[in-house]
Amino acid sequence: MPSRVSKRDFIDLQAVGFSTLREILRQAYALKADTCLGRDALRDRVLVMIFEAPSTRTRVSFDMAMRKLGGEVLSLSAHDMQLDRGETPADTARVLSRYADAILLRTDDPSRLYAMASSAAVPVINGLTTASHPCQILADIMTFEERLGSIEGQAVSYLGDGTNNVASTWLEAAGLFGLKLRLGCPASHSPNEELVLRMRLRARERGGDIVVERDPLAAVRGSRAVMTDVWVSMGDRDGGSKHNALSPYRVDDRVMSAASADAIFLHCLPAHRGEEVSGEVIDGDRSAVWDEAENRMHVQKAILLWCFGVEI
Ligand code: CP
Ligand code: NVA
Repeated sequence: MPSRVSKRDFIDLQAVGFSTLREILRQAYALKADTCLGRDALRDRVLVMIFEAPSTRTRVSFDMAMRKLGGEVLSLSAHDMQLDRGETPADTARVLSRYADAILLRTDDPSRLYAMASSAAVPVINGLTTASHPCQILADIMTFEERLGSIEGQAVSYLGDGTNNVASTWLEAAGLFGLKLRLGCPASHSPNEELVLRMRLRARERGGDIVVERDPLAAVRGSRAVMTDVWVSMGDRDGGSKHNALSPYRVDDRVMSAASADAIFLHCLPAHRGEEVSGEVIDGDRSAVWDEAENRMHVQKAILLWCFGVEI
């Protein structure tokens, strides 16, 4: 039976912790600078990925990261598994732990990820839940730092749905990296208050702060990164009704002009031009979204090496 000793799950930024995240980022920069680095580091290791929701970037960047590190991947749709017929995530995790070396899960329901992580004997990676998307936000931080230097203590802004996985994970990042995070959203789509209070305290201890703003221009004034995400996330039940509430928070040229002169635009993708972002912004000079998507792969490599405890 595989040993559970030193099992390293990558579930949430807070659980992983600041110093480990810094180490993963350091590794990601090195892996990007030298694409031969770690070439056979994960030889004979297999990652099983389970998708209960669609994915392009997470699926392909983890697949490529494993291949480039010499490992292998099995990518499965939950619809083709007994999960779809009621087999529990815990039982699935126990079985997969006998075959594979790590498991990634994308699911609408965070409790399914926790059940899998606590029952698996191998590392479990969060490939997105409705509550968080830690792999994405680490790639976003890498993209910011490549262009603008250390993100610690910097002013960054997020406009749009303050309740979704990306906004919630930025709140966690603000607490850990001491960001001055301003989140522009309507009252109907404000982030969880308890999470804001907890992360604000942590951010303040590190010289940052978290402010929830109603005025989109005030929310981005002076910020060095403007971020947004789709208005309707996977698993959203109230889909169409969000558009009217969120339309004042579209990131367009007027919004970007209110940010710092060197501000970049970030979006985890997929994007809906004309909804959360205008075409001029996402396809314009200040957009860093293609680097951001590429950086998913470099960060995934570093996350995998950390999960497996492999030094290069
Ligand atoms: N940003 C992101 O996670 O993209 P996918 O949904 O395509 O994986
Ligand atoms: N908030 C989005 C992110 C997609 C990568 C969603 O959950 O659909």
